[in-house]
Amino acid sequence: MSEPRSGHQEMDRREFARLLGLGGSAAVLADPSTVLDDVATTRRRAQLRPTPPSPDEAFWEEVRRQFVLPDDLAFLNAANLCPAPTPVLDVLRDRTRQLDRDPSPATKTKLQDEREITRQRLAAFLRVTPEEIVLTRNTSEANNLVSSGLKLGPGDEVVIFSDNHPSNNIAWREKAARFGFTVRVVQQLNPHPGPDYYVDAFARAMTPNTRVVAFTHVTNSVGDRLPAKEICALAREQGALSLLDGAQSFGVFDVNLTDVRPDFYTGSAHKWPCGPKETGLLYVNRLAQDRIAPSVYSLYGGRVGVSRTLEAMGQRDEAAMIAFGEAVAFETRIGMDVIERRSLELTRALVDGLSRLDGVKVWTHPDQGRTGAVVSFRPGSLDARKLVTALYDKDRIVATVRGGEDRPGVRLSPHFYNLHAEVDRTLAAVKRYLASGI
Ligand SMILES: Cc1ncc(COP(=O)(O)O)c(C=O)c1O
Repeated sequence: MSEPRSGHQEMDRREFARLLGLGGSAAVLADPSTVLDDVATTRRRAQLRPTPPSPDEAFWEEVRRQFVLPDDLAFLNAANLCPAPTPVLDVLRDRTRQLDRDPSPATKTKLQDEREITRQRLAAFLRVTPEEIVLTRNTSEANNLVSSGLKLGPGDEVVIFSDNHPSNNIAWREKAARFGFTVRVVQQLNPHPGPDYYVDAFARAMTPNTRVVAFTHVTNSVGDRLPAKEICALAREQGALSLLDGAQSFGVFDVNLTDVRPDFYTGSAHKWPCGPKETGLLYVNRLAQDRIAPSVYSLYGGRVGVSRTLEAMGQRDEAAMIAFGEAVAFETRIGMDVIERRSLELTRALVDGLSRLDGVKVWTHPDQGRTGAVVSFRPGSLDARKLVTALYDKDRIVATVRGGEDRPGVRLSPHFYNLHAEVDRTLAAVKRYLASGI
């Protein structure tokens, strides 16, 4: 027996139908709980106006309402995983339902056509060509497609950066052991010693045997930004390939790969682009395409360029790949230059505020030319793990712990859906715990 419906629900159901331009019968078929959710989200979405020339806090509050994050949750962990906005959730659900209503080859072909739109959007987003874009599951897979796909052996050298993510460094070391090539390491320094230092350090690490330079655009540890264009140029001049891990720059910086010119660039949709989960990107410069072989041989590759081979990894989640394109369109509508400025502005507010707190050691450099939107700090004598737990449980603030001996503490990573009020609230909470304990 069905529950009697309240007049409120009936009204929202009609309102929902009107907002979506549906006929009455389509609205009657919809599930009431999702109808209510959709009325709320459709109203939210309808409110986002074009980005004004100088976006103020009221505009960012409207952006924030595009997300289903509750108002009281200060989510400051973009470097790990971002929420997707409602337009992305809607596309994901719509295409999933489309397939599950009719999982025929015809539906799949239609969805595969749309996968190509994602590729085109990504190419425009990064200023490259669709023929150079491969849709992967995440950055880890993309980095590993490179380290497994290049022909390397005894006598060859790969230069890595000590602060690369394990999907880069562990992968290169394991494959060095398997295939017989050698790994050389450029050490990170804290505080960030400046871009010239790193260009020089990479130059010194390279030898005539260097085949690949694998480094990170912005580190996930403390947000150090490396001079990507200069290091890629250095590799190119010496006949080596460059792999630029963009997990912490893709979707937050206005990245122009035609300017940076890496051979490979990798990223995850579920981080800063605010896309669906388990979707990612591998860019393969057309000049490097004959150097990389697929690691997986199967069906259902993309339709153009290198995606025909490297993306042929069997059945995929077409809905997620299409929703990835919607995420890119969402950020593009707001403006990547605007998003980059906003994220850096919030980062600056965190770095400045934390630097003023007695006993706090901020690991992230204050010069924004040297950082991304990642801030790490040691919270005086407080236990970082307890602090992160208290921030979440008592203050509804999501941060993360950086354990170990190397620049330990707490990491915060703000993005364009965050508000200054959340930054202020976070600084006040840390100050309170420093003064009175946890
Ligand atoms: C620099 C860097 N590379 C790679 C990854 C791996 O990302 P994913 O888990 O999405 O593959 C991360 C994750 O935080 C990262 O920060």
